[in-house]
Amino acid sequence: MSAPIAIIGTGIAGLSAAQTLHAAGQQVRLFEKSRGSGGRMSSKRSDAGSIDLGAQYFTARDRRFAEVVQQWRSRGWVAEWTPSLYNYSDGQFSPSPDEQIRWVGTPRMSAIARAMLGALPVNFSCRITEVFRGEQHWNLQDAEGQSHGPFSHVVVATPAPQASALLAAAPKLASTAASVVMEPTWAVALAFETPLDTPLEGCFVQEGPFDWLARNRSKPGRDNQLDTWVLHATSAWSKQHLDMAKENVIEHLHGAFAEMIGCAVPAPALSLSHRWLYARPAEAHQWGALADADLGLYVCGDWCLSGRVEGAWLSGNEAARRLLEHLQ
Ligand code: FAD
Ligand code: NAI
Repeated sequence: MSAPIAIIGTGIAGLSAAQTLHAAGQQVRLFEKSRGSGGRMSSKRSDAGSIDLGAQYFTARDRRFAEVVQQWRSRGWVAEWTPSLYNYSDGQFSPSPDEQIRWVGTPRMSAIARAMLGALPVNFSCRITEVFRGEQHWNLQDAEGQSHGPFSHVVVATPAPQASALLAAAPKLASTAASVVMEPTWAVALAFETPLDTPLEGCFVQEGPFDWLARNRSKPGRDNQLDTWVLHATSAWSKQHLDMAKENVIEHLHGAFAEMIGCAVPAPALSLSHRWLYARPAEAHQWGALADADLGLYVCGDWCLSGRVEGAWLSGNEAARRLLEHLQ
């Protein structure tokens, strides 16, 4: 029996690759530095229930992805979110309804990754630091000094800066990944005992420190007892305040939110913050996935395409398809 395929990263790109390979009869093993799957589609459990601190919703514009999302819907992994949408510019909120279909994981964003992972073999809390090739096979080294292998192929499915560090065996791929700039996002969640007196459920923001506000509780199937909000700072604000202490970020963004929202904002019963260091690529690319097929090394992630959930899924699928093509 041939050696399995290693996949580094259990975000949507790694899981999409894993599912495609598994469905084609290949053996896979996943490696993830965090304690759970989902990457930037994960949700934070809190005393106020689960809160989506990363990806807020996703759209499906590509036919292949749209078909997969319909399957997810029929299995109960996702549902449509129809927020009362606003736009904030020139110091004013205006209703901004549209026809776009927006999907969320149910009962939380991370449910999608958990369901996709299913029973596939995975090593959590395992940060891979090196990917190296022996005479015939690949081996991985983790941050604890343990080695894993042998593997027939490796799929690297991490943000670009983390991918380039793992691609020493393929300098061309490493330098392409190293050329991708990824920008940070500070995310803050606030939970209020008394619901805020505003009809807003989602809001695109054009000025000030935020680019997005959402009422987490307005998403389908949420277990939030309190009125939970997620505030995303712009890339520019996040870069300027990259090393600010978490408490100060919460204080600052809570203050800015209270100033703009136009209703009383009490002290939150619960507040959280998270710094996404590699939140989004500074620009989109058309690579699909990167590969050195002769070596057996594949790279995928949202940054190979649109920097969105859809792009990440498509990229993982593309990496897997290229690998399968090369096997034939
Ligand atoms: P990731 O989700 O980053 O997965 C990579 C995984 O690799 C992670 O789990 C990481 O822990 C792991 N990893 C990294 N290095 C190693 C290593 N050395 N060893 C082991 N594991 C490793 N998209 C939308 O479509 N709609 C939105 O509304 C939206 N909002 C967003 C808001 C925020 C704040 C952020 C941060 C992102 C948002 N996105 C949104 C983007 C979307 O979340 C991403 O495009 C998508 O989730 C990326 O998936 P991925 O698999 O490429 O990467
Ligand atoms: P989408 O079509 O809902 O939004 C795309 C963009 O169009 C929005 O950012 C917004 O500027 C504009 N827009 C859409 N509908 C609007 C409306 N009704 N009123 C006013 N403006 C509207 O979703 P898509 O294309 O799937 O994009 C995903 C979202 O994820 C984007 O908002 C993007 O900014 C966000 N994202 C955030 C990241 C972060 O780090 N904060 C990372 C990656 C994506």
